[in-house]
Amino acid sequence: MSGFRRVEVPLGDRSYPVVIGHGAVAELATLLPTTARRAAVVTQTGIPLEVDPGIPFDVIEIGVGETAKSLTTIEQLCRSFARSGLSRHDVVIGVGGGMVTDVAGFAAASYHRGVPVVHVATTLLGMVDAAIGGKTGVNLPEGKNLVGAFWQPSAVVCDLDALDSLPERERRCGLGEMAKYHFLTGDDLLSMSLPDRVARCVEIKAEIVAADEREGGRRALLNYGHTLAHALETATEHRIAHGEAVAVGLVYAARLARQMGRIDTARVDEHLAVVAGEYDLDVALPAGLLAEQLVELMHRDKKALDGLTFVLDGPAGVEVVAGVDEGPVVAALDEMG
Ligand SMILES: NC(=O)c1ccc[n+]([C@@H]2O[C@H](COP(=O)([O-])OP(=O)(O)OC[C@H]3O[C@@H](n4cnc5c(N)ncnc54)[C@H](O)[C@@H]3O)[C@@H](O)[C@H]2O)c1
Ligand SMILES: [Zn+2]
Repeated sequence: MSGFRRVEVPLGDRSYPVVIGHGAVAELATLLPTTARRAAVVTQTGIPLEVDPGIPFDVIEIGVGETAKSLTTIEQLCRSFARSGLSRHDVVIGVGGGMVTDVAGFAAASYHRGVPVVHVATTLLGMVDAAIGGKTGVNLPEGKNLVGAFWQPSAVVCDLDALDSLPERERRCGLGEMAKYHFLTGDDLLSMSLPDRVARCVEIKAEIVAADEREGGRRALLNYGHTLAHALETATEHRIAHGEAVAVGLVYAARLARQMGRIDTARVDEHLAVVAGEYDLDVALPAGLLAEQLVELMHRDKKALDGLTFVLDGPAGVEVVAGVDEGPVVAALDEMG
């Protein structure tokens, strides 16, 4: 497998490789479970990557966007699997961004009570985050990702060639999550080559997932910047995309940590310098949102343990903080302008 980076997600007998590089999709056939005689390739129109699983396969296209991330789509997929005679020893292959891999993963977790799935991530966000770690699921009208399962893939491919056609806005979404990793590790990711950078992000996520597969503790750190981000996505009816919202949420989390005396102004400025400066992401609150609406939405965050819950920087590094008072939460929102 010369030329490609290979990062292992170490989960005991469910460990799997993530293969990263330009043209890495050529490795797909070698990464499928040896029991598989057929594959169901789940993808979307407009996804540029051609895949060759090396076994007979059907291609099933699903809709685009968060509204198609639904139980209806899961039913359609499972019915297609049944019609194409997919058995429990066969394989589902999700080819796309985080939406596709979340949906394909959940359909694989459910069909025949679980069939193997391999992800081919085609967005930056998918490569550094969504395709890794085994969280799968769909939305309900009541909220995002409310139904799902933990279902680890058998392998993940990150073919960097796919990024050539990625719209600029989608690239920035991936950068939002990457900036998050910067604060979790202090790594200067932007100084690395693209293959090294993606591989390092995969390594960071793999390490956190391996320490806490089902989010009892450490995995919650991956939600740095996400409490406000989720509120912003809901309040703007997804006009602001997830990764864009995370960029705003990271700076907000720093301001909140400072309001609570956990970090100093210099550390807030560092957040600004990294997110707005180095990563060149927009960190202003979208116009027209009311603080009380955002606070209300943050109360409803599904990660909330006890009152308002945030992942915040502090003397001991980034950690989960529950029961945060509304005072500093609102004051930090005011600071965002
Ligand atoms: N499971 C997890 O741990 C996890 C983590 C983060 C995000 N997510 C989920 O991921 C989803 C967001 O993923 P996303 O940001 O990748 O968006 P996405 O999957 O919706 O893709 C965005 C758009 O880009 C298109 N696209 C994909 N690859 C392309 C390519 N190579 N060239 C051109 N266009 C391409 C898609 O068709 C789509 O229209 C959300 O549903 C989110 O909840 C999951
Ligand atoms: Zn995220």
